[in-house]
Amino acid sequence: MAAIGVFDSGVGGLSVLAALRAALPHERFVYFADTPYAPYGERGDAYVIERTRAVTGELIAQHGIKALVVACNTATAAAIHLLRAEHPTLPLVGLEPALKPAVAASRTRRIAVLATRGTLASAKFAALHAALADQAHFTLVPCDGLARAIEVDDRAQVASLCERYVHQAGHFGSADGQVDTLVLGCTHYPFAAEELRRHTGAAVRFIDTGAPVAQQTHRLLQAAGRLAGPQAIGGVTLASSGPLEPLQAAALRWLGPAGLHQG
Ligand code: DGL
Repeated sequence: MAAIGVFDSGVGGLSVLAALRAALPHERFVYFADTPYAPYGERGDAYVIERTRAVTGELIAQHGIKALVVACNTATAAAIHLLRAEHPTLPLVGLEPALKPAVAASRTRRIAVLATRGTLASAKFAALHAALADQAHFTLVPCDGLARAIEVDDRAQVASLCERYVHQAGHFGSADGQVDTLVLGCTHYPFAAEELRRHTGAAVRFIDTGAPVAQQTHRLLQAAGRLAGPQAIGGVTLASSGPLEPLQAAALRWLGPAGLHQG
């Protein structure tokens, strides 16, 4: 059975891959990091569309994928509608910041959204925000530089940007008027959760998109009759448009040898 493609500008989508592996243990995955071209978040739509098309083409041509998870909010916002039109028979799952689950989770109805500039500026995000704007107050924080700092593992920069952006997001806490829910609207940010948590306090709820995306992938594969059977042995192949070593190191760090399980 063919593999499921999972793609991000860099290592961020590994946070989604972890959820996919947990929910779909019999599947084989090809994780593709577009590292030399990362980050995407501050580069504009034309660039992100071109890279998303190129990576999707490569995953189809080189790996014969049976489905694609675009594990990148920025690429989804810029290009998922084009991919759907260009690959009508390929099951496709995109990501968007989890505003709806955040509304369900928040008691104070004050929610902060951390995402890339590209995601927050997109028409797709504007429509999502507008549809929920009467249900909660959202503070939107474009986190320039944070995905890059996580990508290159610059821990001092990650720490300082997390502090800056949490303070921009408002006063966190569970009292009325305080932000009690933080949406991690970029797949890199779960890897900075510990740093973010130092500034939000322990009670604030962090929402990312891994688990719902894994469920949606399961549903689509089932509907298409493309789920791997219970005898199949799952695994992960790593691929990149640049050298593989940084991706291998990040995958080991974030998924561990068991999570990686090269197939
Ligand atoms: N991880 C990506 C996202 O979810 C993109 C980060 C970047 O390349 O700027 O938006």
